[in-house]
Amino acid sequence: MSDTKQEACSRCAAARREFLAQSAVGGIAGVAAIGLPALVGLTTMMDPLVGTGSGSSEVRLASLSGLAEDGTPLRVVVYLDKVDGWNTTPNQPVGGVWLRRKGDTVQAFHQSCPHAGCGIQYNSSEGIFSCPCHGATFDLDGVRREASSESPRDLDALEVRVESDDVFVTFQNFSFGTAKKEAI
Ligand code: FES
Repeated sequence: MSDTKQEACSRCAAARREFLAQSAVGGIAGVAAIGLPALVGLTTMMDPLVGTGSGSSEVRLASLSGLAEDGTPLRVVVYLDKVDGWNTTPNQPVGGVWLRRKGDTVQAFHQSCPHAGCGIQYNSSEGIFSCPCHGATFDLDGVRREASSESPRDLDALEVRVESDDVFVTFQNFSFGTAKKEAI
């Protein structure tokens, strides 16, 4: 091979090596450019599915000093951010809770009747809780008053945390019509 041809071939080989090296770098950058947003998108898409759980949330519902010291119950509406698939609507009413002060502690009961979910009322003249739908009644500790109560269980107590003057309740829904209290 002539010196000129040999020189041209070694220039070809050098150019090919440079081209391959640039292609490799470009390929990696391309995968990163396409793959990363795709991964982020997939994670975002999956998030509402991953985020759905038992649905319990701790929320501040009252001040201790705002509850009657004689134990008269107070009904409080619970507002939470509502998540529906990929949409979040902030500050929506999601249920009611009866709060009852006992000294420095507080009892909380879900307002829905365990029988079929009607709203439990406070009957101040008799000093009891009662259900307007099928007549179940409960004492102020949430215990059924009738042996043959329509309600298959006592009122659903909720977890309460009192910090200084703030009353926090872990709000949670439960199944209806079952003797066992099952979180849903
Ligand atoms: S829903 Fe309350 S007794 Fe039936």
